[in-house]
Amino acid sequence: MNPFTAPVGFKKIGWEKIDIQRMEIRDLEDVLSIETTSSPTPWSLNMFAHELQHPNAFCFVMKPAKGGPPLVIGFICFRNVIEESELLNIAVHPHHRRLGYGKKLMEFYIDFCRPLGIKTFYLEVNPSNQAAIHLYQIFDFKCVGRREKFYQGRFDALLFRKNI
Ligand SMILES: CC(C)(COP(=O)(O)OP(=O)(O)OC[C@H]1O[C@@H](n2cnc3c(N)ncnc32)[C@H](O)[C@@H]1OP(=O)(O)O)[C@@H](O)C(=O)NCCC(=O)NCCS
Repeated sequence: MNPFTAPVGFKKIGWEKIDIQRMEIRDLEDVLSIETTSSPTPWSLNMFAHELQHPNAFCFVMKPAKGGPPLVIGFICFRNVIEESELLNIAVHPHHRRLGYGKKLMEFYIDFCRPLGIKTFYLEVNPSNQAAIHLYQIFDFKCVGRREKFYQGRFDALLFRKNI
């Protein structure tokens, strides 16, 4: 099946039926299947496992509250150090895109970080990734620079920042 085509009869899951919870090892199979269809430079299983262990890292998955396929709708990973947060990875399952789940994950991220004292958020994004750039602009992220050869030592990234 084309991963970017929603299955026949697909329906948006109501917000009341969505949970965002800590990513666990048992989620990694679903997370990886989203990651490999979502990024030209996908994280490996080991990279996710490393984040789960890292003391400054936070990884969350969005799931339907009562289960059902696909188990993981989306995920977000970030690291916080003192007053700064860096968004490392965010993706929504291809069947569930453009339904507002990306915005829900970003809202969750900022609301989670605010009481921890985070004042500045950073992220890098591929200049051709219009979906992600649009999403970040909704949350008032501004482009503040360019990191040369950021992806695989070959492709540049745009650096975005948000202050709260
Ligand atoms: C980026 C991503 C997480 C957005 O998730 P999503 O659930 O589709 O986002 P939402 O439905 O909440 O949409 C957020 C906004 O982005 C817009 N958007 C979504 N996809 C878009 C696209 N392909 N082109 C332009 N705008 C797009 C939506 O219209 C919405 O804006 P609006 O409220 O003004 O209408 C998703 O496209 C994805 O997983 N991409 C692959 C992974 C990735 O690129 N991650 C970012 C790495 S830096």
